[in-house]
Amino acid sequence: MITCSAPGKVYLFGEHAVVYGENAICCAVELRTKVSVEKSNEIIIESALGCTGLDHKIHPYVSYVIEKMQQFADIKGIRIIIKSELPIGSGLGSSAAVTVASIQALNLLFDCGLSQEDVAKTAHEIERMVQGNASPTDTYVSTMGGVVMIPLKKKLDLIDCPIVVGNTNKFSSTKELVGNVAKLKSEFPCIVEPILSNIGQMSVLAESLVAQGDYETIGKLMNINQGLLDSIGVGSAELSNLVYAARNSGAISAKITGAGGGGCMVALTREDNAEDIAKAIENAGGEAIITKNTEEGVRLESLHG
Ligand code: MEV
Repeated sequence: MITCSAPGKVYLFGEHAVVYGENAICCAVELRTKVSVEKSNEIIIESALGCTGLDHKIHPYVSYVIEKMQQFADIKGIRIIIKSELPIGSGLGSSAAVTVASIQALNLLFDCGLSQEDVAKTAHEIERMVQGNASPTDTYVSTMGGVVMIPLKKKLDLIDCPIVVGNTNKFSSTKELVGNVAKLKSEFPCIVEPILSNIGQMSVLAESLVAQGDYETIGKLMNINQGLLDSIGVGSAELSNLVYAARNSGAISAKITGAGGGGCMVALTREDNAEDIAKAIENAGGEAIITKNTEEGVRLESLHG
């Protein structure tokens, strides 16, 4: 049995705008999905969602991965076990992580010879099959790790301060939210296009700030990004609650991360107040996770279990 893992991610800037080719800065975080694979007589997929065969409703990403990998290897039967620290549909990139880790585990088990670039590309193809209009951000960052500027795929320095994630525990559908933004954009192009372009500009400004470690200024821009995300309809009362709870208790910044609607917000904090901010998020009804970014993308965890 081979086990691979891939990380989730948070956006400092640029979700939604990145779908239209704007710049975004996204970081891999030390919360992982582990996928174990072994040869079997039939196709079995096991996760917290249930135990199925090929099933595009319950396990869409992994089912498409198996079908795609059948193009590279003679995969007749396979048992796949998924264990994740990433809540599903929360904006932390759970679908990208399970897709990337499954591709890499099958790649190694069947000796398909896919490079990391191939894994990222294949994972993006699969996200598009399931989600429709998906940018390559989540799958690329989950494969390569680090802090990445998209669309150039340029690695920036790691963010050297604690990252606190607040989960509303409200499921959000990326496909639906991306569709809502597309609709708003076609209804009011002269309003929405400049908003998306302004979001993109924040990443351009932030690139040198990341290199300087100027988290206070990055934080100001993240807070502006939050306002612009709200303006395009991807906020929610629950998310705003957590965002203000974090800011009012001293976070450097707090904004939605990922598709929004529900799911998670992210706060940058100072070294000495991450715990306080996590508590404030919990008191406001969210689930808080203190994490950090990671240079490591998809990795082999074990060859035997
Ligand atoms: C979802 O994590 C991020 C979005 O920008 C969609 C995408 O990039 O595919 C909302």
